[in-house]
Amino acid sequence: MTTSDVTSLYEEFPFPSPAEDAPLMDMIADQLPFVLRDSELEGWEVLDAGCGTGSILLALARRYPRARFTGVDACRRSIEVARRSAEWYGITNVELVHGSMPELDLRRRFDLVVCCGVLHHLPSPRAGLQWLTEHMADDGLIHLWLYGAVGEHSRMLDRELVQLLTPPGGSHKDGLATIRDLGLQLSLADYGFPAGWTGTPLSAAEQDVADADAYLNPVVEPMRFADMPELFAGLPVTWLAADRVYHPGGIGLVDLAGRQAETDGGTVFVRPEDLFDRPGLQDRVRELGNLDRLRAIELRLRPTGFEVIAGRGAGLDRCVPRIAGNLLPFGDGPGPGVR
Ligand SMILES: C[S@@+](CC[C@H](N)C(=O)[O-])C[C@H]1O[C@@H](n2cnc3c(N)ncnc32)[C@H](O)[C@@H]1O
Repeated sequence: MTTSDVTSLYEEFPFPSPAEDAPLMDMIADQLPFVLRDSELEGWEVLDAGCGTGSILLALARRYPRARFTGVDACRRSIEVARRSAEWYGITNVELVHGSMPELDLRRRFDLVVCCGVLHHLPSPRAGLQWLTEHMADDGLIHLWLYGAVGEHSRMLDRELVQLLTPPGGSHKDGLATIRDLGLQLSLADYGFPAGWTGTPLSAAEQDVADADAYLNPVVEPMRFADMPELFAGLPVTWLAADRVYHPGGIGLVDLAGRQAETDGGTVFVRPEDLFDRPGLQDRVRELGNLDRLRAIELRLRPTGFEVIAGRGAGLDRCVPRIAGNLLPFGDGPGPGVR
């Protein structure tokens, strides 16, 4: 499978919405105050790699008018929708580039590289990640959203069934017909979004996009936290940390070292010991190292998606203390945070 097999799907079903006036998705913009110390990002250069139709990117640009944003996507139609959407919303601090990782060379480096729901669709996630690190500034940060293998197990089986029962050589429309015949429909609630991405239910066209992405994508590789050290091994980052989990019960910020109050204005923090009622089990979970504590979260909450953040140089100092408490064992970098 190649990138063009993947992008041909998105040319027909631009993600997350073909409509330029669709509500923007604040999921990362709302999260950054719980990740970065800097509340304005003044002068920051931010890259959204695989920005799709720009829903997350434009929401970020709207929230941080003093930063400059670049969105890249291999799907030409998605970039066109994103351009029209930027105009619709009057957002001017965004540049949109059509191009494919890892071939495209932007000849610039960024303070923050966001890559949401993309790396697991690349024929080589590792080559894509290397490209992201090449576009990261010296003290830069990379933030990834990835499918979680534990919570996605059942959907991967449904996806296999759809692909098995779609006639060989069938079009994407044939695939969508198979999805409907099987009575399948992707539930965003499984990702912690009870009503659409933005609180607004999906339109019929957006549900088709979500289902095509979920069941017809020719390349998908769900992962786990434990895969991250190997995925990043040898790349020019010095530390790696867990950030958020997305699961049927909601979306929570991982806080392995307990550095945040339990809730903060409706924001939920996830500590593995809190996922067990019995004091004995809580004590056992407290004794585990960070990677095993993340395993406990995965096995208990079964996240369909998760986020990690990585960086080098002074990048960790740009993050809130919670991130330093979530470090994974990695290279010679700073060790997992002390609880
Ligand atoms: C699931 S969508 C995610 C879009 C957006 N990041 C979001 O979360 O709303 C995956 C996107 O990755 C893009 N993509 C896939 N392979 C790519 C590549 N090699 N280079 C750049 N973009 C790619 C697709 O065109 C698609 O827009």
